[in-house]
Formats: sequence, structure tokens, C-alpha cells
Amino acid sequence: MQRTVDYINGRVVMIDQTQLPAKLVSIELSSPQEVADAIVKMKVRGAPAIGVAAALGIALASASANDTEDDYTHILQRAADMLRKTRPTAVNLFWGIDRTLRTAKEALENNVPVPQVKQIIEQCAVAMIEQDEEICRSIGANGAELLPDEGHVLTHCNAGALACVSYGTALGVIRAAIERGKLIHVYADETRPRLQGMKLTCFELAQDNIPVTAIADNMAGMLMRKGRVDCVVVGADRIAANGDVANKIGTYPLAVLAHHHGIPFYVAAPTSTIDLSLQTGDDIPIETRSRDEMTHIEGHRIAPMGIEVINPSFDVTPAALVKAIITEKGIARAPYKQSLK
Ligand code: MRU
Repeated sequence: MQRTVDYINGRVVMIDQTQLPAKLVSIELSSPQEVADAIVKMKVRGAPAIGVAAALGIALASASANDTEDDYTHILQRAADMLRKTRPTAVNLFWGIDRTLRTAKEALENNVPVPQVKQIIEQCAVAMIEQDEEICRSIGANGAELLPDEGHVLTHCNAGALACVSYGTALGVIRAAIERGKLIHVYADETRPRLQGMKLTCFELAQDNIPVTAIADNMAGMLMRKGRVDCVVVGADRIAANGDVANKIGTYPLAVLAHHHGIPFYVAAPTSTIDLSLQTGDDIPIETRSRDEMTHIEGHRIAPMGIEVINPSFDVTPAALVKAIITEKGIARAPYKQSLK
């Protein structure tokens, strides 16, 4: 499959994930506003993918700016402020913005002329595309050994190629295990309300001929009780210093269920998802999304008029329920305060 996010001829090219699985179409974006809009509308989503997209948004702002230093810095700052407001939970977004801004600042402080700084920023953002692919492959290689030689892996939401540039984090671990000859079958939680599991995880696994069975979110307990799940692997949007993990709403109950049944619960994420500035998961900002995502499916109202709904997009799984955090640098285990550092 093509890269989820790319930079081609000075434009950001991304798969429009809101069209999947019906249509695999790409969109081309030429301004930071368009990138911000794509993140808000979840045309691009998943922590690593929005981190790279935001960095590319800064690269677009940089390319369009005037060559006077004050103007250039102002344009970059304005784009960064706008991109920061798009989604609050995945720390990768802020990491991508900060990394490109820091690179520009350092170059300007070293008296590099603005036209050259523009090239440096473009190279920095484009390098993040390639690095993301390498990081996912390393996460996969590190995590593959944790999966059984033969068995059933349950995952939630989409932490796959579509959530990154390619290959994926949780699905990267599954892909790597299969590449090493393991016989893995995947249960994909459909992941209400936006159905990233049903629409995206099932789509990309089917494309790669990886055996997948979609389940409704409330079926995991029954499968675990019957001994039909060997481990759970999920991604993460932000991991606090103590190992608490924010991920798609519905991850926490899966971890509780896995703990109850003695099933290992693994988190796969790049180190850019770890936020050592936050002591615990209670400090992680949780996005609330529109009520419509709850009351409507594909534009059709399914809820009676006038009822109350809530729509928190993420939950926090306490570190005590996480058997290991698989990163590109190795596998972190409890006590996470030390291992994550
Ligand atoms: O709201 P989304 O679709 O952006 O949420 C995505 C997730 O929760 C993923 O599990 C997480 O970003 C990890 S992606 C490798």
C-alpha cells in the first residue's frame, strides 16, 4: 500500500481515511490550513501519522513564507499555533511541530539565510517520513518475539500502516511476527464510535492477506473467557512517565478484561509517544469529539432526539495493567518510571 502521508513535489499527499474502506483515494494539500483541516476531520489520524502530517504542515508554511527573518518566524509560529489546536491527546502532533520549529530556530540562530532554512525545514520534515517507517519496522522486530508461534491477537482501533506512514505499531508487531513465520490470526475490535477497527484495521490487514475477524467491542470478554485470545496488542497516543497509556476509548476495559483472564496486554508505540513531562495518565488531555459521532452512523441518526450522549475519544489504561511497552529502542517493562527514562 502507498504511504499514508507523503511529500511529493512540494505538496502533502495523504490517503483520505474518511473514504475507506469504500474508496482508496489520495488528497493533495498545499497549505498548513489544509493540513490542520485534514487532521481535525480525521482524513489523517493515528498518533504517528498526525505527528508527521503536522511537521509537513510546518514545511508548507515555511515554503510559502517571505525571505525576511521576522516575517518567516511569524509565519512558522502562526502555522504551529493553528496545528497545535487540531487535536489534544496524541503527543506526537506536538513533537512533530516542535521538532521542525526547533530546527528552524537553531538554523536562524546560526545566521543561516532564510532561503536555506527553508530547505533545511523541508529536509527535516521529509526525513520524518522515512524515520517513521524505520521506527515502525524496529517496533515490529522488537515485539514479534512476544507473540505466540501460533495464536490469536486482539487489537483495538487502528494502530497500523494507516495510523503511521506505513507498516504500523501494533499491526507492525503482528506483521513482523507473520514475516518471521508465526501463524497469527487477528481479532479487530470494530471501535465505536468511528469504527477505525472495522473500517481501517480490517481493510489494511485484508489487503495484506492477514487473517482478520471483526468483532463488536462488547465481544472481547466472551472470546477471552473461551480461551480464544492469546494476547492483546494496541497502540498509544500518549504515555505518561509512570507508564499509564492513553489510547482509543475502549482500550482500558480491554486491559481490565485481559488482566482478569491472565492474558498479556502489550502496548506498541514509538518513543515520540512517551511524554516524560507528565507524571501520570491523569494529566493527559483527553479529546472530546462531536455528539454526532455517537448519535449518527454514516449520516443516519440512530439515537432518539434529545437524549444526552458523551464522546470522549480516548481513555487511560493504568500502567499496572500493561505487561510491556514495545518501542523502537527496545521493550520497556515495569517499573516504567525507570524503564521509559
Ligand atoms: O482517533 P484516532 O483514530 O486518531 O485514534 C488512534 C488511536 O487511538 C491509535 O491507537 C493510536 O493513535 C496509535 S496509532 C499507531
